[in-house]
Amino acid sequence: MKNIPIILMGCGGVGRQLLQHIVSCRTLHANKGIHLRVVGVCDSKMFLVTPDVLSTEFDDAFLMDICKTKFDRLSLEQCIDSGKCEASSYAESKRKLADIAARIGYVLVDCSASSETIEVITQTLNLGCCAVLANKKPLTCSMEEFDKLFLQPRRIRHESTVGAGLPIITSLNRITSSGDEVASIIGSLSGTLGYVMSEVENGKPFSEVVKAAKDLGYTEPDPRDDLSGMDVARKGLILARLLGQRIDMNTIKIESLYPNNMGPSMMTLEDFLANGLPLLDNDIQEKVKKASLNEKVLRYVCILQNSMCMIGIHEVPKDSALGRLKGSDNVVEIYSRCYEKPLVIQGAGAGNDTTAAGVLADIIDLQDQFP
Ligand SMILES: NC(=O)c1ccc[n+]([C@@H]2O[C@H](COP(=O)([O-])OP(=O)(O)OC[C@H]3O[C@@H](n4cnc5c(N)ncnc54)[C@H](OP(=O)(O)O)[C@@H]3O)[C@@H](O)[C@H]2O)c1
Ligand SMILES: *[C@@H]1O[C@H](CO)[C@@H](O)[C@H](O)[C@H]1NC(C)=O
Repeated sequence: MKNIPIILMGCGGVGRQLLQHIVSCRTLHANKGIHLRVVGVCDSKMFLVTPDVLSTEFDDAFLMDICKTKFDRLSLEQCIDSGKCEASSYAESKRKLADIAARIGYVLVDCSASSETIEVITQTLNLGCCAVLANKKPLTCSMEEFDKLFLQPRRIRHESTVGAGLPIITSLNRITSSGDEVASIIGSLSGTLGYVMSEVENGKPFSEVVKAAKDLGYTEPDPRDDLSGMDVARKGLILARLLGQRIDMNTIKIESLYPNNMGPSMMTLEDFLANGLPLLDNDIQEKVKKASLNEKVLRYVCILQNSMCMIGIHEVPKDSALGRLKGSDNVVEIYSRCYEKPLVIQGAGAGNDTTAAGVLADIIDLQDQFP
């Protein structure tokens, strides 16, 4: 049986779902000759490690305790009493991880939403271990730090950072490694904005669609976090860098769907929803009408072409994969020599379940790194 030791950073919606997937896939993995051995878990404050990383692991009952504790919004501290682990403060995790790496090879899984984790991820990779990321932030830092993460590309995976579980990065890597040149990529990479843009197409006012999306739980608590385009820009930057563009966040042109004077520092959320948002209706409606005159529809997309990366509203043909998009799916069209008619990847691009499934598949994909 091949043993893959795992250390999980972040026990939010995705991290907990990953632990549940690991437990429910025990038989499936055993049939493939693999055993995933969770030896450490941390949140933003605490780092729990099994007493002896060489020979022990967190058992499934303890993993489910951790999930329940974090679901109840308690600290991992609550789990210390069980006697099944050693605890240290988050501040010590860097040193702890180095100690562990000296004893065993492991996969560090980043399901946090922090930009701070880049330091321990880089350390982990330098010490010969592996990393799997659902967290986009370490990949959108400076080019210099990004390069350090990919010194050993066989030991890092991050499929879930773009389009959650959809095989977008895997597909791109397969296309580029076979010498097929990618000419352009155009994608709707935000479920929220995909929903909003397809709804305004039917004549509904932008403000009402955004409020409906918020009520459906499609948006962040403050929808401006979606409307700013920043999350799409992070995904765009990751794809751009995979294609070899050596660019930073500040070189990307990002069109925000609300003006600066309606930003969180200028307007409360309530004021924005009640008074700011409706002021944007006319402009979007004009653009929708203008596009439909040419059999086109508006989509909020990331466009990668000619070493450029642009994020914003774009007219696409009604009769294209992007144009037919309804609801909260992600859609990515990849154009290359082999795919003059684009390769289209479409499906749910968010959700704890699919995101965690993508992370789990990445971990299994690293199995050859373990004896
Ligand atoms: N949910 C999705 O659909 C989706 C899709 C694709 C990618 N992602 C990405 O997946 C990641 C996780 O998402 P989520 O929804 O599970 O987030 P979340 O619910 O906010 O959970 C974040 C977790 O990370 C922990 N954390 C924060 N800072 C940390 C640090 N410096 N080191 C270690 N742990 C830290 C938090 O600890 P506390 O519990 O102590 O606060 C929390 O347990 C995010 O980066 C997100 O962008 C999510
Ligand atoms: C994902 O998990 C978070 C945190 O538990 C929860 O608030 C959210 O509703 C979950 N999302 C989905 C789509 O299940």
